[in-house]
Amino acid sequence: MAEQVKKPLKITETVLRDAHQSLIATRMSTEQMLPIVDKMDKVGYYAVECWGGATFDASLRFLKEDPWERLRKLRDGFKNTKLQMLFRGQNILGYNHYADDVVEYFVQKSIANGIDIIRIFDCFNDLRNLHTAVKAANKEKGHVQIALSYTLGDAYTLEYWTDMAKKIEEMGADSLCIKDMAGLLVPYEATKLVKALKAGTKLPIEMHTHYTSGVASMTYLKSVEAGADIIDTAMSPFAMGTSQPATEVMVETFRGTEYDTGLDQNLLAEIADYFRPMQEDALKTGLLNPKVMGVNIKTLLYQVPGGMLSNLVSQLKEANAEDKYYQVLEEIPRVRKDFGEPPLVTPSSQIVGTQAVLNVLQGERYKMVTKESKKVLSGEFGETVKPFNKEVQKKCIGDAKPITCRPADLIKPQLEEYEKEIAQWKQQDEDILSYALFPQVATEFFKYRQAQQEKVDVTAADTSNKAYPV
Ligand code: CO
Repeated sequence: MAEQVKKPLKITETVLRDAHQSLIATRMSTEQMLPIVDKMDKVGYYAVECWGGATFDASLRFLKEDPWERLRKLRDGFKNTKLQMLFRGQNILGYNHYADDVVEYFVQKSIANGIDIIRIFDCFNDLRNLHTAVKAANKEKGHVQIALSYTLGDAYTLEYWTDMAKKIEEMGADSLCIKDMAGLLVPYEATKLVKALKAGTKLPIEMHTHYTSGVASMTYLKSVEAGADIIDTAMSPFAMGTSQPATEVMVETFRGTEYDTGLDQNLLAEIADYFRPMQEDALKTGLLNPKVMGVNIKTLLYQVPGGMLSNLVSQLKEANAEDKYYQVLEEIPRVRKDFGEPPLVTPSSQIVGTQAVLNVLQGERYKMVTKESKKVLSGEFGETVKPFNKEVQKKCIGDAKPITCRPADLIKPQLEEYEKEIAQWKQQDEDILSYALFPQVATEFFKYRQAQQEKVDVTAADTSNKAYPV
């Protein structure tokens, strides 16, 4: 009998980033993470995704903690495991395009504070928007993973994806990720896609999907059989639903095969025991809505990511128009077509979703147009795979001339200005970056931080060895 060739599957754990972002609105705090870090560090994960995405905004805005401090604490705890972050290309961790100097400095500081792998994507898959971040990460000797935002539509053929993969390889990526934020990639399509990518590039391939439509673990199985090297999973208490397939389940699936991950199920069980009460609490307080844990096949019908569905419900609730839910769901693909059929992922998902809500509530399409929609139709987010609907463009931006260059080419350096603006609050260089991304939210946080420190100074200066409470 021929000896089995081993090609162990690698696992990236998402419980500290995407899983809680997808299920409990990114509300897991640093304090909740730290006690389990030591055990997680012993698992032998390929990487732990723990920073970036919405965690930065949510830390400052809701948890009143410094995201940089979180990163440093996680770095201290994870002595053997690579740390990964999610980075939105020229949008960094925000919702707009930033100047190159901000992007470069952000990448530099992320790596200096402990990130090993930067997963970089653009919501339009416009590679020009990745360029600055990729070069900066190359320079800082970080592992550059470029993620393609997966979506469906006439333009998104196998040729399209393999062509993109080749360009990504040429750009200087160390690996490639298929980022299926809406759970649209079905198992047999995954076979075709991964085989095509494997044939077209030498880059390791990582699969990232969400359970929203209920097919995710089958998609992983087919992807791995087709040659995918790494999969993204979440510890079971924060898995499934709008999150990732469960780590323990995928580990068990491949046990004893050529893809055996070698991870210890007992250790994983201990880690799951740690997170389970957190899940139960979140259910009790309503932070975790049991609805997001089920199968939502509408995501396949309307190609809308799970997070976008819940945003939609709350927007309609606010407008007292919950009965318009299905009308809006049908309007979303139409707006997406008008906007050049981009993938729906932050920030394009919010822009398309909000415009669809307005189109339905106003009773006339594009009667009211958001600032962001105008930006998209002016080319300020980059180039979409298909041209914009000319009539819609005219109605929204009139005779204004759309830009065709890389959007950031028109943005002057910003860092120096920001540094001046926050001089009175600055306690570390990283504060400039927090402010650059979220000026109001960061300023509120800086004020809060200072107030806390003053409290500590007055009451317990001698007993506290912390600079400020976390
Ligand atoms: Co995700």
